[in-house]
Formats: sequence, structure tokens, C-alpha cells
Amino acid sequence: MKFEVVTIFPEIFDSFLQGSLLGKAIDRGLIEVAFSDPRDFTADRHRTVDDTPFGGGDGMVLKPEPWVAAIEAAQARSPNAHRVALTPAGQPIRQADLRRLAQRESLVLVCGRYEGFDERILGYVDQQLSLGDFVLNGGEVPAMALIDGIARLIPEVIGNPGSLGEESHQDGLLEYPQYTRPREFRGAAVPEVLLGGDHQKVADWRTSQRLTRTLERRPELFRRHRLSERERQLFAMPAGRVYLALVHHPVYDKAQQLVTTALTNLDLHDIARSSRTFGLGGYFVITPITAQRQLAERIVGHWQSGHGAIHNPHRQQALSLVRVLPNVASMVEQLTENIGKKPLVVGTTARRRSGQVAADTLLTRLATDESAVILMGTGWGLADELLEQCDLVLTPIEGQSGYNHLSVRSATAILLDRLFGLRDQS
Ligand SMILES: C[S@@+](CC[C@H](N)C(=O)[O-])C[C@H]1O[C@@H](n2cnc3c(N)ncnc32)[C@H](O)[C@@H]1O
Repeated sequence: MKFEVVTIFPEIFDSFLQGSLLGKAIDRGLIEVAFSDPRDFTADRHRTVDDTPFGGGDGMVLKPEPWVAAIEAAQARSPNAHRVALTPAGQPIRQADLRRLAQRESLVLVCGRYEGFDERILGYVDQQLSLGDFVLNGGEVPAMALIDGIARLIPEVIGNPGSLGEESHQDGLLEYPQYTRPREFRGAAVPEVLLGGDHQKVADWRTSQRLTRTLERRPELFRRHRLSERERQLFAMPAGRVYLALVHHPVYDKAQQLVTTALTNLDLHDIARSSRTFGLGGYFVITPITAQRQLAERIVGHWQSGHGAIHNPHRQQALSLVRVLPNVASMVEQLTENIGKKPLVVGTTARRRSGQVAADTLLTRLATDESAVILMGTGWGLADELLEQCDLVLTPIEGQSGYNHLSVRSATAILLDRLFGLRDQS
């Protein structure tokens, strides 16, 4: 693999390239690094590579002529090279990018400086990559990061290629915690399972640690990971420890009066189906009106054991999650008894209030063994007296339009998708 680095500061790379693994890889001819300095492609006495921005503004912009000439010189030496500009406005570098780039025969890495590139320079690269959502003084550190990350994927550069297999980001998850001697350090002991010599137990422990860690630290990565059958067995999905409650009292009506709303068949079915789809532990329908509870039981009964069960067994599965109770307090009491610990009571509202938390915060709490019950309000929303008793209140689901009147069924489905929905790999 040949790296062609376009930079006005090639000397920055000196000690980096003499470092242990890279230095050896260069000595063994596994990688090669060459430089193209835009200053060598200037015609003026000051070797000018930048100029003031058109339209005004601070700082200096990199001029197209010397930069494009430097890129073309690199390309003339390595005609099949894939050209990458390092810029904070590019796509953040991911392990999958490194894997793709490591397949190339050569790469041109263009390192900006000052206020960055004249936009026309970027017409001479194939891709723009960023080291992350922050701004550095130059593209050299990001280029070194790419060289370092790609080089270790090239066969023979790393002594033991097996060590790459279970690293963070290799398969979308973070790495499990690692330990070496001593067995105890300042009171912190190595987990017992790692000392027992049972390879299967170690592998299982590592798998569940990877999943827990990823969920806790990087929920967005967790949502892109489709659990294997084995992982499903080893890892108690947080959704199974989450319950939903559709609250018909105390809620507001549109005049902001406290009321009890009427049950709807649609809410019963649709929220049960969403709860089943996302793997929730249960779905409570809360109404203090006895006749309404009886009605709910009758509807559920029809789909559980009546004609509906024969007609549509999928619906039976969904509605089997439904429990009907008179109030939130009795539900929390029942859950506490069943789980053996009080669940987090989580409020939802379409309004902004102070102290609300994003869905990911709840998910992070669920990575440990917490359980939660999410209260969804009917009518014009859950009463403040109820929200004030909640352990957490989630931020509203909002679009950019300023209109915010989702049905409770839609809001529930969106929230569950935010929390537990599997995302496509990008
Ligand atoms: C000070 S930055 C210019 C930032 C530019 N004005 C902007 O807002 O996007 C100078 C150069 O450093 C490099 N650089 C800075 N932050 C970077 C990052 N996060 N990833 C990749 N390159 C970066 C780029 O090559 C950039 O052209």
C-alpha cells in the first residue's frame, strides 16, 4: 500500500513514520509513504499556497493552483490512487471506511490548513473524510490516523492478525473489558469468570459485556447491530424490562381540565401491536372506570380466547401483553412486586418542560438491570401532578413544522422505534 500525502508540513510525519509498527512495515516494504508539497508547485518568491477569501471573512483559504498541481503530481506517481481530502466537513471516518481503503493499491491523502480548501480543490478528490466532529489546525493528524488505522489492516503489518477480530468497531460493537496480571489491583479484582479456564463461559461473558457496553455508551451503534441467536440468549434485551401504560386518568382535555378519557379499540390494538413488535414486557391500560375496564377485558378476551384468537393468532400474541388496571399507583405496585424492584416511572408529554431527558438517556439507564414503565397520556396529555411524580420525563417527539398533535398511537410507535428500533447499516 502506498500513501501519497499532500501537505505543506511533511516534517510532521517524521517521528510518526519511524515509530515501531509503521517503521517496521516501511522497512519490510509493506507500506510506502511519499509526500507532495504544494509549495513546490508555486511560482512566486514566497511560495504562496493560500489567499484571502472572496466575499470577506477571516483567515486564509488554500489556493487551487498549487494544491491541485500537488494532487496531480501524486496521482502521476500512483495512477490508481483513491484520493481523500481530510476535512471536518467530510463524513466521519469509521472502521468500515478503513477496511474499504485498505483494499486499495494506493491512497492520496490531502491535508488542509488555515481556513481550509478552496471548494474547487475538492473537485480533484474522490472522497472527503473527517476525523470527527471537531476542528483541528491541519489535516496531518487525521492523515496519520488514517495511515495508522489502515496499515494495521494490511496483512503481515500486525504480528498477530487474530487480535483484530474482536476489537471495537470490527463488527459494530465495542470491545469487552480486558484484564492482565495482577489478579487484584488496589482492591479491584479481575472478574472470576476469566480465571476459571472455561472457554465457553469466557466467550459468553465477553459477548454479553460487549452488548451491555455498547448499549450503555453508544446506543446508536447498538441499534445498528442485529442480535444473533446466541446473543439473544445471552443478553436480556432492555425492551423486555420496559412496560407501557396507556393512561386515561388523570389527563387534560383541551380546556386544560382534568378528565378521564374513554377507551378506544384502536389504541388497545395498535399499541399492543407496537409493544409486541419492539419486545416490551407488557402493556397496561389504565382507567378508573369499572365499565371501561370491563370493556377492555372483553375486547382483549375476544382476541385471546374468543373467535378473534382463531381468526388472527398474531393479534392474540400482541393482545396477550395487555393488563387492565384502575390507576398508575396500583400498576407500579404490581410491577414492583413482580420484578422485585420499583421500575423507573417515565413520563411523556408533547410539551417542553425543564429537566426532560432524551430517549437515549433512558436507554442508557436500561443497559444495567433497571426496568421502566413509560406512561403515555390520552386526551390532551398526562396531568402535571402525574408528570411531577415521574422519575424521568422524556423530551417531546417533534417535527420542524411547529404543529404537534400526534395521536398517542403514533407517539408510542415513534418512541419505541427511537428506543428499540433496529437501524439499517449505513
Ligand atoms: C482549521 S481547519 C479548517 C476548518 C474549516 N474552516 C471548516 O470549518 O470546515 C484546517 C484544516 O485542518 C484539517 N482538519 C481540521 N479538523 C479536521 C477534522 N476533524 N477531520 C479532518 N481534517 C480536519 C482540514 O484539512 C482543514 O482543511
